[in-house]
Amino acid sequence: MDWKPDRKLKKAIYKQLAEYIENGIADGTFPPDRPLPSERSLATALNLNRSTVVNAYGELESMGLIERNRGSGTTISKDIWGTTKKRIPSWNRYIEAGSFLPSQIVTQKIRKEAVDHKLINLASGELSEELFPKSFLSEITSTRCFLGSIGYDHPQGNEILRNTITKHVRKYRGIETSPSSILITSGAQQALHLIIQCLLKPGDAIAIEDPSYNYNLPIFKSVGIQIHYLPVNKDGIDPEDIKSLYKKHRIKMIFLNPYFQNPTGYLLNKKKKEAILDISSKLGIPVIEDDPYSLTAFSGDKISTLKSMDRNGNVLYISSLSKIVASGLRIGWIIGPTSVIERLSDAKQQIDFGHSSYTQWIANDFLESQTFHIHIKGLIKELEKRRDRIILSLDTYLKDLVEYSLPQGGIHLWCKILKNYNEIQLLEESIKRGVIYVPGSTLGSKDGFVRFTFAREDEDSIAEGIKNFGEALKSL
Ligand SMILES: Cc1ncc(COP(=O)(O)O)c(C=O)c1O
Repeated sequence: MDWKPDRKLKKAIYKQLAEYIENGIADGTFPPDRPLPSERSLATALNLNRSTVVNAYGELESMGLIERNRGSGTTISKDIWGTTKKRIPSWNRYIEAGSFLPSQIVTQKIRKEAVDHKLINLASGELSEELFPKSFLSEITSTRCFLGSIGYDHPQGNEILRNTITKHVRKYRGIETSPSSILITSGAQQALHLIIQCLLKPGDAIAIEDPSYNYNLPIFKSVGIQIHYLPVNKDGIDPEDIKSLYKKHRIKMIFLNPYFQNPTGYLLNKKKKEAILDISSKLGIPVIEDDPYSLTAFSGDKISTLKSMDRNGNVLYISSLSKIVASGLRIGWIIGPTSVIERLSDAKQQIDFGHSSYTQWIANDFLESQTFHIHIKGLIKELEKRRDRIILSLDTYLKDLVEYSLPQGGIHLWCKILKNYNEIQLLEESIKRGVIYVPGSTLGSKDGFVRFTFAREDEDSIAEGIKNFGEALKSL
């Protein structure tokens, strides 16, 4: 076999070999009447470990391309070229070929570990079951009369809900808008995807915060966007950095999550907000204000959003009910100029024909009800208690080993580890001890950080999780 592995490729060698043989089967290099070499002889001929050939043959066998029989060795499956003419697609090749990129391996691992094993979950960025307003919502679902048809709804989302959102954002976020400037999305996540896919093109440069939720979102790479970073300090980004990125890279958009940011918990101050708006309108580049957390301020003070201060129409405002009501409702929204909203809603129609009517009705009734305000007040109290508990636990179990700044809202705590450690090892050791969190490298460029979410577990579990994490860290 005339083949050599390419050791510079990220792809495992056994996969490269399997792909080579698969191509050979397809183009007739390996005809069905000739056996393939034994694992041992092929390994010797190609100077590989035997296990590499075993894995490659295993892969081809699982795809139905070869058969391994005791005694007669390895042959090409008769089903492919024989009478039945069946051919199994090379799913692996398809899986790797798509232009929509997968999440990072470590993100997939965290997601899987959190779901499959009952770990203390300091990783998932959402509220716990007890924090969802279940009794309020079930009251709504048991008594409500439906708002209308259950056919496809308006491309921008249910009009009654959009009307309610105009009142909601006026009251809670100081934003003046109208239903025609709103698009209902499947969470803030879809809002980000629509903006990236519809308003940017391959090669465009943009600025995001470092660290940030956006830091490793595969969608930017999937679409071929050049990402540049705005370092985040204790009170947010430095607006001057926007200017220098513009000078160097002609950035076309700025993505910010300015209130109780994921992951640092920072809050952008008023002066910086004014400076950012000023720069944005001088340069003529839009700011994407991603705001899922501003209602969770522990002080209860209303936060002025960039959108509420925007006089020139430079801000596209995104928010959702995920972090304040229930992530499973998948209700989010974008507020922006009508022409942009129409462009994005056309794309949403192409993707899913609009949002589910039921959750829009539920969201509408809850936002309209007196109980919404009561719920938010209760939620803030609970989140603050959990924030205090995580701080107490860090001070108890990880004294002198960590540094953090106290979040004044939101659900995340960004923690600097004051010890050299291997990120993968620490994650493995923590999982062994029953706790999971998000390693910092998935969210930012600086080494030595972890993100703990304190909304997903109750106070006692938070304490136990931090204790276990401390033991994992000390074991390294
Ligand atoms: C800053 C930020 N934006 C957007 C999202 C997406 O949230 P959702 O789609 O549930 O509204 C998240 C989720 O963690 C987030 O932290």
